[in-house]
Amino acid sequence: MCGIIGYIGKKTTKDILLDSLELLEYRGYDSAGIALFAEPSQGPVVRKVAGRVSALRSVCEDLPSDSCAGIGHTRWATHGGVSDANAHPHQQGRVTLVHNGIIENYKELIKEYNLKDKLVSETDTEVAAAVLDTLYEGDPEAALRKLVSVLKGTFAFAVLFSDKPGNIYAIRNVSPIVVAMTEHGALLASDVAALGVHAKEYAFLPEYQVACLSAKGILVHDEKKREVPLQLMEIDWDTSRGGKDGYPFYMEKEIHEQPDAIRNTIEPHIVNGKTSFAEEQIPDSLFRENQNIVVIACGTAMHAGLIGQQLFHTLANIHTDVAMASEFTYTNPVIKPGTLVIAVSQSGETIDTLEAIKYAKKRGAKVLSIVNVKGSTIADNSDYCIYTHAGPEIAVASTKAFTSQASVFYLLAIHAARLNGLLSLEEVAGYLADLQKIPEVIGKILDRKDFIKSMTRNLLSSDQCFMIGRGLDYSLLLEGSLKLKEISYIHSEAYASGELKHGTIALITDGIPVVALVTQSLLASKEYSNIREVQSRGGNVLLITKQSLYKDMNIAEEDTFILPELEDMFMPFPAAVVMQLIAYYTSAAKGYDVDKPRNLAKVVTVE
Ligand code: F6R
Repeated sequence: MCGIIGYIGKKTTKDILLDSLELLEYRGYDSAGIALFAEPSQGPVVRKVAGRVSALRSVCEDLPSDSCAGIGHTRWATHGGVSDANAHPHQQGRVTLVHNGIIENYKELIKEYNLKDKLVSETDTEVAAAVLDTLYEGDPEAALRKLVSVLKGTFAFAVLFSDKPGNIYAIRNVSPIVVAMTEHGALLASDVAALGVHAKEYAFLPEYQVACLSAKGILVHDEKKREVPLQLMEIDWDTSRGGKDGYPFYMEKEIHEQPDAIRNTIEPHIVNGKTSFAEEQIPDSLFRENQNIVVIACGTAMHAGLIGQQLFHTLANIHTDVAMASEFTYTNPVIKPGTLVIAVSQSGETIDTLEAIKYAKKRGAKVLSIVNVKGSTIADNSDYCIYTHAGPEIAVASTKAFTSQASVFYLLAIHAARLNGLLSLEEVAGYLADLQKIPEVIGKILDRKDFIKSMTRNLLSSDQCFMIGRGLDYSLLLEGSLKLKEISYIHSEAYASGELKHGTIALITDGIPVVALVTQSLLASKEYSNIREVQSRGGNVLLITKQSLYKDMNIAEEDTFILPELEDMFMPFPAAVVMQLIAYYTSAAKGYDVDKPRNLAKVVTVE
């Protein structure tokens, strides 16, 4: 969490820092700040505010445009509330720094270095700045190495030293830092989203190596002061390009990008009517020998895994568990020989997922990840990686990443079934052809978005909502419900319809909105019985189904959405888009900042 930027070069540092922070705001947006050398002999000037980057801009107007080096930060509060004092950068003596991560032993460090009277904020970061200042004897690299040797926790630091106005330094462990050289100067950032507008190539700073940026270039040194060559990668996405493309929010834009995201994700893996993962060098043995799969992921990515679980069961007869990555390591999971772990992550940086991967690998599991951000830490820590090609996802609520992740599970389950002789080549070609139609089907849902918008009127007047379904419908509703609660702040609960009568139906009273999803032929009649039970208790049902499963339940036409007719197995795609639009329009109608819901951040790098 938190966005970091650093720039040194010929362009106006203040502008580059502020514009980049706006691109990084999705990583955290409760406060923002910059520090730059306005006058090289006088040390860096710090400006910071609780609030958005727009608020920061107004307090930076008087800063000169000819300063050369600076760092910036957008915060998602961990230690210490949201206040000007707790915003980064933090300045202690000759050190000014920004930080992403958590210093676990900050209290011990305060005592050990006798820092109590020096600190003006409540943050762990300021403690790191004060320790660094104590350790600094004119050699930034040596001081940074000493600093990280006394820290416990996770960190990515970008640092200015008052007596080195021509340099920015960086060091990190778990939290990423990327660096890039341009014609006008050098940049560092917490992620590539901030670099695309300036650079064509970037490199990840390896853990525990020190980067020193100057206007001339970027030098990275290991602990023996040997130069470490940068592994350059092409920047193939630029979050600054196109912006919202005329949509009021990124979320709406990204919902509309789903046909392309899915097409770009699946097409490279469909070769002559067969699945292929040759490019990723995934051996066939991975699905032949591993007859036990554990999917680890968080939030929306985990919901994609729940769909994958049913596909592996139904098509490939492979036992599959889905674990919340944040719980995985604490539940003594059984990793037997032959367990394949599939980790799913849009950002590729979610620390819970990363820790679960490390745990599984230590116990001998092979890890295949499904990741959207190229070269990210999770991709790097996996044995194999399949990239989704959803492009940059800026809205905090994930949409196109989810359907792209799901599309990879369809490919994998079909692939595994073929390799294990459970699907004929003809059946494989048939399923793949169905999958290839999904982008077009999503287009049809998008054409009817105004109708979906009108369906939200019942939700707008309620502070709670239930969502019911069975099988794949239930898995999909877990995602629909998460979408609704995270951006509209309506308390929403997805329930397996059959479970209602075991307790939760007690909460269904007059007028409570209940979204019912009925897309699975074998389950439809049971689902309709459950809908009837809800209606009998006064629940106000919004029905989403397909024509072949439609049943007259005395639900108004304006509360019924008929999805395009597809094989049951593929229904989660159109249903997902309907649920995303329901959440989106509810949030927008309530006047919320849809892209930046309260308390959240796009990239979750704290446990
Ligand atoms: C919700 C959402 C989150 C993420 C979760 C995992 O809309 O986006 O639940 O899915 O934080 O993030 P990644 O996929 O980056 O690992």
